[in-house]
Amino acid sequence: MTTVLGVLASGNGSNMQAIAENINNGKLDARIEVVITDRADAGVIKRARSMGIDCLYVDPAAYEKRELYDEKIAEIMKSRNIELVVLAGFMRLVSSRLLSEYPMRVINIHPALLPSFPGTKALSDAFEHGVKVTGVTVHFVDEGIDSGPIILQEPCLLEEGESLSSIEEKIHCIEHRLFSEAVRIICENRIRIKGRRVEIIE
Ligand code: GRF
Repeated sequence: MTTVLGVLASGNGSNMQAIAENINNGKLDARIEVVITDRADAGVIKRARSMGIDCLYVDPAAYEKRELYDEKIAEIMKSRNIELVVLAGFMRLVSSRLLSEYPMRVINIHPALLPSFPGTKALSDAFEHGVKVTGVTVHFVDEGIDSGPIILQEPCLLEEGESLSSIEEKIHCIEHRLFSEAVRIICENRIRIKGRRVEIIE
């Protein structure tokens, strides 16, 4: 059965696009019903619309509290029968108003090997720290900062003297593959959650 996805994104939208492309080429039995962004100038708007995907800008400034904003997002997601909420570079913390509507049904992609380097500057934080290995994590979202149960991780080795932009490129390349893989595993119902541990059934 085709899984109905709702994507939340604040930026470029390359991860949203990678998922949409994997759907289009038959690698993923899913459909992106709607993309919602909190930024009027986000690149994701153009990318989504050029692929024929409905994209809405919901302005956070119009809501007094974070919870009310999340309530609006949840309302849109519910009204469109979204089954899985995909955070693809969404730069806001998500509250229980959305999470309680979608228990273990909100996932995020993070450009580091969590629990190392949570937060919005993960890539450069890891680089400045001098790590020799970094990577990508896909995880369920809870109310903390990048703290939910880990679904998939993939490491990325740093070459001696490698630049930040080169690492970024490698990380994005992993992201574009790993995120779709995580979505596919969930769509195929191949996940068992035991506390913090996420088991994947082969
Ligand atoms: C990605 O690096 C993702 O890991 C992080 O935000 C970035 C979004 O990139 N959460 P894009 O907008 O999908 O191109």
